[in-house]
Amino acid sequence: MKYQKGDFLYEGKAKKIYSVKGHPQWVWMEFKDDLTAFNAKKRGAFEGKGRLNLLIANKVFEFLKQEGVKVHWVEALLDETAAICQKVDIIPLEVVVRNWLAGSTAKRLGFKEGTVLEEPLVELYYKKDELDDPFINEDQALLLGAATREEIGELKKQALKVNQLLLSFFQKACLQLVDFKLEFGRSSASLMLADEITPDSCRLWDIKTKERLDKDRFRRDWGRVKESYAEIWSRLESI
Ligand code: TMP
Ligand code: ASP
Repeated sequence: MKYQKGDFLYEGKAKKIYSVKGHPQWVWMEFKDDLTAFNAKKRGAFEGKGRLNLLIANKVFEFLKQEGVKVHWVEALLDETAAICQKVDIIPLEVVVRNWLAGSTAKRLGFKEGTVLEEPLVELYYKKDELDDPFINEDQALLLGAATREEIGELKKQALKVNQLLLSFFQKACLQLVDFKLEFGRSSASLMLADEITPDSCRLWDIKTKERLDKDRFRRDWGRVKESYAEIWSRLESI
């Protein structure tokens, strides 16, 4: 085997993190078959979900890497349902970019889901399970000590760049990137895109039919969750 899994470090809702033997600068990120929503108040799973998300995340991160975005992704280990990633200190901010309104912001501001935005909207959420990841503004992010003002500026700039790249990337697969969530980490003084980009963390609709193919199918009990994740992968595989 090329790499060896080391000590268990952390378990999240959809992933488990281990060290990598002999490589202190890396982590081993294992994708689970679990699905959660509403801060894990709702739980589910399907066989093969971890593998599908790994394949999708790998395609996305390899594309972003090629385009010059600094990402934590080193390489996917398909037989292990895992990826080798740079070890980073995760900044406790979820950076959400929206191209069409859906989900929480559509509801909170009274817009119909699917309302197109003239400019992408960038939002910050404080990553804190006990508080259910509240929506915050930049001054509140500073008050919480989550990041510096310079870092927040950089996060927003990076998020918009990733959005431009991913809009056309998914378009090639006839997928509309409605919105998505990014997380960033710090590694030796520089910022790096981290975590995952999968149908768990993006809203992806069929461009023509507007059929929803992401985790909203699980959140909202629409069924065909596994089939939708598999559909996203089969479209991305061939681009
Ligand atoms: P929202 O409309 O529920 O705020 O979600 C916006 C986007 O962020 C959507 O693509 C799903 C993603 N997201 C996560 O990845 N993790 C989360 O905890 C939440 C609330 C949203
Ligand atoms: N990611 C969160 C959870 O797993 C919320 C969500 O995606 O709806 O509970």
